[in-house]
Amino acid sequence: MTTASSADHPTRRDFLFVATGAAATVGGAAALWPFISQMNPDASTIAAGAPIEVDLTPVAEGQDIKVFWRGKPIYISHRTKKQIDEARAVNVASLPDPQSDEARVKSGHEQWLVVIGICTHLGCIPIAHEGNYDGFFCPCHGSQYDSSGRIRQGPAPANLPVPPYQFVSDTKIQIG
Ligand code: FES
Repeated sequence: MTTASSADHPTRRDFLFVATGAAATVGGAAALWPFISQMNPDASTIAAGAPIEVDLTPVAEGQDIKVFWRGKPIYISHRTKKQIDEARAVNVASLPDPQSDEARVKSGHEQWLVVIGICTHLGCIPIAHEGNYDGFFCPCHGSQYDSSGRIRQGPAPANLPVPPYQFVSDTKIQIG
């Protein structure tokens, strides 16, 4: 659904573009802890694929942020209860790429969806909070993904992939 009023969700279209949380963390730490900073990955190592940590604290419910890991855009969505309920009400067997919502998020952190933001059709970057399923819409050929990042309509053959990640605390994840 894309018809929620701005009064209900004043920040839904706010996208916080975070280059890499890890880079900011390393930069901040360097001033205070020069010795420790020498042991952190440098920018080229991060670009080559080192894990990154992302602080989820600033991401309000209904917001998405985009970070980059291994040069790929990663969407992190702080889902609303409505989005979660809709994702879980679907008959999984009816999906083009059947996968339960539970299998795509971390138990105990169901409000967070983390997906690689590259359309599985021909690789365009989908737009968050667009389309008919309150998920992602790919403007190139019209593929529509739901609030679990699962393909629901259009030419894309598969769900948006979930990258390897884990919660290192209630408010921080490590990707990679
Ligand atoms: S690249 Fe996304 S629908 Fe074609």
